[in-house]
Amino acid sequence: MTAVRPADPERLWSTLQTMAAMSEPGPGVTRLAYTTLERAAHARFAEWMADAGCEIAVDPAGNTVATRPGRATGPAAGTGSHLDSVYNGGRFDGIAGTMAAVEVARLLHEAGVETELPLRFVAFAGEEGARFGQACCGSKLAAGLSSRAELDVRRDRDGVSLADAMAAVGLDPDLAARTAWAAEDWSGFVELHVEQGSVLERAKLDIGVVDLISGSTRIELTVTGQASHTGGTPMRGRADALAGAAEAVLLAEQVALDPRHRGTRATVGRLSVLPGSITTIPGRVTFSLDVRDVDADRQRQSAAEIVTRMRAACLRRGTRLEARLLADTSAVVLPDWVRNEVTAAAAERGVPYRVLTSGASHDAQMVNRLVPTAMIFVPSRQGLSHVPEEWTEPAQLAAGTDLLLAALLRLDARAAAVAGVLENVGGAS
Ligand code: GLV
Ligand code: MN
Ligand code: MN
Repeated sequence: MTAVRPADPERLWSTLQTMAAMSEPGPGVTRLAYTTLERAAHARFAEWMADAGCEIAVDPAGNTVATRPGRATGPAAGTGSHLDSVYNGGRFDGIAGTMAAVEVARLLHEAGVETELPLRFVAFAGEEGARFGQACCGSKLAAGLSSRAELDVRRDRDGVSLADAMAAVGLDPDLAARTAWAAEDWSGFVELHVEQGSVLERAKLDIGVVDLISGSTRIELTVTGQASHTGGTPMRGRADALAGAAEAVLLAEQVALDPRHRGTRATVGRLSVLPGSITTIPGRVTFSLDVRDVDADRQRQSAAEIVTRMRAACLRRGTRLEARLLADTSAVVLPDWVRNEVTAAAAERGVPYRVLTSGASHDAQMVNRLVPTAMIFVPSRQGLSHVPEEWTEPAQLAAGTDLLLAALLRLDARAAAVAGVLENVGGAS
């Protein structure tokens, strides 16, 4: 065995660029959840991991799991993130963590390191809520938190259900819904991700360690008015669905800005206007609302208040508002002992860091229901994410990868020590 080298920023970069090239045409990266492009990215990940000495498995939810055997069998320390993107997203969201996993596997392989117990590297399927409304579909299934019925209910904007999308790429939704990972196969998990905010950049730090992951309430709202001729219909007495929706959008912003809701982020990100004609008053508008908070009560209170006030505003305009819950996830507190392993690894290496919350959703929040999980953040330039401008410097990715590797080795040593203690206790009884 030779000493493990530091992460290679150029190799990490070129691996990341290979992934970025796997995209629908258009600005940025579009590689949506449960599409053939996403599956192709998983196949690539699997090839790289096999080359680095891992055994590959794809679970029924489509998550690709690469296992690197240890000296003994037993619970594995794991890492990973996702390979799907939003519409016209960036190169780093999810990819940073999966490419860091590839780099960790390569570094350990090159150095001939034998860990005490196995390590697992995961590419999760369908993390982005952009297509089906629900975030973290693959990790939610892995954690046993989805039902078969849910896979029929979640639909993309073309009406394709999650179940049908899974089947179209060769996955069996029935099997996926009843096949969770076994908690006893895992000792701990660390996901590396780009921050998608600007705390680290402002603090001039390369590393963040996450304590809380925001929850999210997603609602589809439909305003129904009366479509009619734009010239023939007087201004008074109209039931313009878009005018109602416009007021509703501003109300979402107003409620989230109210000091009583401080910390809530409310966004209308998608809006469709029917019939969508220059010369017809809009009769029907459908739009999305995404309300996020690290405080689950405040998240739901904010969402309820926004919808109540939207409904009243629409009624005043002679329009009607209907609301349909798309997804509702609570904030997650990550356990401090795994975070302490990450911060101890940072302290050992003299790496400064900041503990911070995550405004975005992550596979870590689902995996944590099954196996204690931590998150490492690396900076996002100008805090931009879910856009083609998303950017993290190669050296920052490499710094995060080095810390990830150190944290995984600590988790492995800890799990082996715990297993040893249990064996001794077992032997004594
Ligand atoms: C995932 O990136 C999300 O938070 O929407
Ligand atoms: Mn992500
Ligand atoms: Mn994302």
